[in-house]
Amino acid sequence: MSSPTTVSLKKEDLNYTSAKRPVHSDPAPDAKPLPKVTIDGVAYEFKPGDTIMQVTERYQVHEKIPRYCYHPAMPIAGTCRMCTVEVEKAPKLMTSCSTPAADGMVVHTRSEKVLKSRNGVMDFLLSNHPLDCPVCDKAGECELQNYTFEYGPAESNFKEEKRVYETATTKKLSDDVTLNMNRCVHCERCVRFTDDVTKTNDLVMLNRGWHKELAATDEAKGLTSDYQGCLTDFCPVGALTWNDFRFEKRVWFLRKDASVCDGCAKGCNIEVHSDKEKTYRYIPIHNEKVNGHWMCDSGRKSYHTYTDTNRLVAPMLPDRAGGGLMATTWETVITETKGMLTTARRPLVVIGTDATNEEAAQLQKAFSAHARADVRSHNGTGGVSKASDNKALDHMLRQSDLTPNTRGVEALGIQPLQASDFSDRDVVMVVRQGRAAIPKVESGSVILVGIYTREELAGLLAKGVDVKALLPTLATIEKDGSFTNCDGITQNFTRAVTHRGKALAVGKVLGYWGFAGGAQ
Ligand code: SF4
Ligand code: SF4
Ligand code: FES
Repeated sequence: MSSPTTVSLKKEDLNYTSAKRPVHSDPAPDAKPLPKVTIDGVAYEFKPGDTIMQVTERYQVHEKIPRYCYHPAMPIAGTCRMCTVEVEKAPKLMTSCSTPAADGMVVHTRSEKVLKSRNGVMDFLLSNHPLDCPVCDKAGECELQNYTFEYGPAESNFKEEKRVYETATTKKLSDDVTLNMNRCVHCERCVRFTDDVTKTNDLVMLNRGWHKELAATDEAKGLTSDYQGCLTDFCPVGALTWNDFRFEKRVWFLRKDASVCDGCAKGCNIEVHSDKEKTYRYIPIHNEKVNGHWMCDSGRKSYHTYTDTNRLVAPMLPDRAGGGLMATTWETVITETKGMLTTARRPLVVIGTDATNEEAAQLQKAFSAHARADVRSHNGTGGVSKASDNKALDHMLRQSDLTPNTRGVEALGIQPLQASDFSDRDVVMVVRQGRAAIPKVESGSVILVGIYTREELAGLLAKGVDVKALLPTLATIEKDGSFTNCDGITQNFTRAVTHRGKALAVGKVLGYWGFAGGAQ
């Protein structure tokens, strides 16, 4: 028999760790040969402590072993038996998620015995499943659907009445998450998530066997963590669904573009799911250095800021007849504001720390050419004005700084705004690209650049702020750029959706003004 091909562990992989299976701390891991496990005829080097599942995951060259209860960032349960594999010389099938790889071990992941076992697990799970795929939000990304397709059975052996949880067919676990217990496959990822990840202990599995039922630990409180949406990401079936997305869209219509959440200074990696340039949801993308597998609920919902129908997406100038501001053309607003900025005696430019690194640099360059202009940064969220004011709000991801780029703007040398900066100004230009607070402008005429809602504009006018123009610009998901997060990591992102209003990129506006740093 010919010896198997060997795949070696790369040096960088030696730093690989799993949250729940810490690799052993060998002081000089490359000083001795690494052990090898043969999987489906290929020998893989691995780090002692890795499970068979982790070896296949690490190399990503192997067909994914099916799983329900396993999640790389949670303790191993080994209960669903979907991941079983055949190990030579072992008397029975082994669960690949919980069996450590051993030197010289020979594993078969798709042998006849293995496929028969998976078929049996599926038959068992499907026996009580309601099969309401046509009305289930998980359809199209459901692990039960996918594994049924791959491992069968084509027909059920179950002839009895299906179990129905009368009280939990649609039960709200919170304002954001709905439970349909009939669809649950009892993998208990959700229970382990609230026990070990959020540490809120919100969920518990009651009873055993036929009567096994997921329930909130405290029915009155339900789910309490700020990461409830993650439950609906990893629930393998449609048992836990995210109310904000429920019945909004069939998932196979969604386009998926990678981006960065701008909801706080963490900059979680996300996928923007959209159809016909309308955003339907954000879900997290795994990045061990930034957000692991998770994102918070506030960030998950933050796309509403940009899809809000009250967002002002047309350039505006004062309505001389009726008061307030009215929509106009870009030509008119550019002419009017260019005149104001070039003739201003002492303009002040306030850049929100929600601007990208590129936008902040362009604005800084454009206005440093204007001898009398001062450029300042503004945050105003969560008691933060400079990066060092930021605090972690929990042991996971959330930050008190609700803007994504305080560190990036600071690195450009732009000083935070002080109340004294407003003294003796004739024009103040406020650039706000997301969730930075709108500064309290004490003097001068105001030019608003960026993202504002109807209510925010009305509020400013009601306070007597002399708003002379509004120039709408693009949101994070509508443009390219980069943010530097609270840990100093700079992350690039590209446009996920095309803006459907009349907003322009900041560089474009500077270009139309004919200022340095702008793009024509
Ligand atoms: S609700 Fe979902 S995640 Fe929780 S046990 Fe059931 S199938 Fe698993
Ligand atoms: S922690 Fe911050 S960056 Fe991450 S999802 Fe929440 S708001 Fe967005
Ligand atoms: S994934 Fe291994 S037993 Fe569930």
